[in-house]
Amino acid sequence: MARKLIAVLMPQGNVPERPSQALRWVARSLSRVGIASPLREARLILAHVMGVGPAEVGVRDGHLDREERRLLKELLDKRCERYPLPYLLGYVGFLDFILCVRPGVFIPRPETEGLAERAVELVPTLPRGAWALDIGTGTGALAIALARARDDLRVVATDTSEVALRCAWENAWRLGVLERIEFRTSDLFGAVPETFHLIVANPPYVPRREIPGLPPEVSLWEPRAALDGGEKGTEVLRAIISGSPKHLEPRGWLLCEIGHGQGEELLRFAKGVANWLELRVEEDLARRERYLIGCLGPMT
Ligand SMILES: C[S@@+](CC[C@H](N)C(=O)[O-])C[C@H]1O[C@@H](n2cnc3c(N)ncnc32)[C@H](O)[C@@H]1O
Repeated sequence: MARKLIAVLMPQGNVPERPSQALRWVARSLSRVGIASPLREARLILAHVMGVGPAEVGVRDGHLDREERRLLKELLDKRCERYPLPYLLGYVGFLDFILCVRPGVFIPRPETEGLAERAVELVPTLPRGAWALDIGTGTGALAIALARARDDLRVVATDTSEVALRCAWENAWRLGVLERIEFRTSDLFGAVPETFHLIVANPPYVPRREIPGLPPEVSLWEPRAALDGGEKGTEVLRAIISGSPKHLEPRGWLLCEIGHGQGEELLRFAKGVANWLELRVEEDLARRERYLIGCLGPMT
């Protein structure tokens, strides 16, 4: 039914040859299928096809050639099936850098920039040559943000997904921090015997039954292993919290992204597994519970 409806709403007619007209045509097509920011996305897709910056799209003279129009139609059709824009373009912005992303790898979200900023703020307080751990690195977003924050910081970045680790490795190489990040296949702490001054994690935290109700971009196309946090959404978070005291240096920090409504349960759980000097939940910019922050006590 949903697919039939999308077929009716798919782009109609031929791709206009003039970029300014093509821009409006793409935006109208995206709007018809319910894309929230059709003009912004149309500009990004067209810029990608034309190989120019988004600001140049509507102002370039001339015509789209046959190959550009074919590619534009192909990308637009996929986007109208709610295929995520970052997978189409192959990249996504994160803080002040660009990450390549591909199908099978979780697309970093703006909320996670909040986690990265909090972690980066702590970096100057860590000793020289400190070690950090990023559990479930995906594109490498958090590990790379940390490695860029200070040039003596070393990071272990783990994931169970080989596709994600490959993508993260490539991002670290392109951004010039590969020498200080060790990528490792590991189920949580399974292949991580070391201790760290900082542990960051944005693990899967969606309650399993809520996954089908997420936007189609997420539920249909993003890797389930990056979303599924078990029945209540807190299964992986609990495992990270309970494992972290053994892997943190005294006064080491744990920063996790969490789901809205999970704060109280996780604070209670964390208090039961270790003595924390500090332990709190902070909200994201939309005022939703999003970050669990703990600093381990000097003696555990
Ligand atoms: C929500 S994504 C976060 C990716 C990245 N850190 C970010 O913030 O964009 C969760 C990641 O954890 C990985 N993951 C899921 N279960 C895991 C486990 N048991 N051990 C390690 N990584 C896991 C997934 O493959 C996915 O890459």
